[in-house]
Amino acid sequence: MTTVYLNGEFIPKERATISVEDRGFIFGDGIYEVVRVIDGRIFEWGAHAARLARGLSGIRIPLDASSIEALKGVCERLVSDNGLADGEATVYMQVSRGAAPRTHHFPPPGTRPTVYASASRFVVPRDQREAGVRAITFPDFRWLRCDLKTVNLLGAVLARQAATEAGAYEAVLLRDGIVTEGAATNVFAVVDGVLRTHPLGNLVLPGITRQVLVELMKENGIALVEKPVTQSELLRATEVFLCGTTTDVNPVIALDAKPVGSGTPGPVTRRVQALLDSRLYAAVGAGR
Ligand code: PDD
Repeated sequence: MTTVYLNGEFIPKERATISVEDRGFIFGDGIYEVVRVIDGRIFEWGAHAARLARGLSGIRIPLDASSIEALKGVCERLVSDNGLADGEATVYMQVSRGAAPRTHHFPPPGTRPTVYASASRFVVPRDQREAGVRAITFPDFRWLRCDLKTVNLLGAVLARQAATEAGAYEAVLLRDGIVTEGAATNVFAVVDGVLRTHPLGNLVLPGITRQVLVELMKENGIALVEKPVTQSELLRATEVFLCGTTTDVNPVIALDAKPVGSGTPGPVTRRVQALLDSRLYAAVGAGR
C-alpha cells in the first residue's frame, strides 16, 4: 500500500482526493518540487526548499516558511513509511492555490493551499548515463517565467512527446535561435572547446543539479561560461549533456538524428558525471 501526504494527513493513495475546484486542476495554479533521496537522506534539501519558497512567493501563494520547512519531515516520513529508506527514491511535492469556485483572479483570502507529496522508488538511469541518449530540438513556446517551477507544464509535455515520438529521450528547446534548456533538464554544451550553459534568468529553471554542477566545476577548475548557445553553435558542439534530479548527468550522443561530436560520451561529460557522483554519494556508502 502506498502512503501519500495530503493537507496534513498521511493516508493511503487510494483515499487521497482533491476537489474538482482545486486551482491546480482548473488553472495549473501551483508550484512543485522533486527531490532525490539516497538512503533516507534528501539531496540538497536547503536548495529545493529555497526554490519552492521563491516559486510560491513568485506566484503569490501564501505558505509560511515553517510549513515549507515542515515538508522536509513529510518527505522523510513518506520515504520510510513506503519502505524506501534504503537505496534511491524521489519525492514529489505540490502546492496549489487551493479549492474555490472558478475565478481567474485569486480566491478569497483564507483559502487554504492544497499541499500534496508522494514518494517513489528511483531507478538511476544507468544505461542512459553510460551509453548516452538521443535528443531532438524543439521550439520553446513556454511562457516567460520559466524560472518558476509551476505545475503548468504543457510546453514541456508537448516537447517530451515530440521527443518520444522521434525515438529520443529529451527535447532541447530553442527560443529565438538559442538553446534555453531541455523539457525537464538543464543543457550544457562544449562549443569550440568551451563548456557553456544558458545563464540563470526568466528563460530557464534554476535547476538544483545545475547549481551543484556549477559549484563542483568551480571547485575542480573546470571552466564554464554561462552564455547562451546558439542553434548554429549547437550543431558544431563536440559534447552536449543534460542534467536534472531524475536525469542525473546524461550525455547526448545524437541531436536530430545526427551524431554529437564522435557520437559517444565525451571527456568533459564523463568528468562531470564522476563529480556529481562524488557529491551524491559523499555522505553514504551505499546507494549505487
Ligand atoms: N524537472 N529544467 C526544467 C524545465 C525542469 O523541469 C527540470 C526538472 C530541470 C532540472 O532541475 P533539477 O536539477 O532541480 O531537477 C531543468 C523535474 C525533475 C520534473 O519536472 O520532474
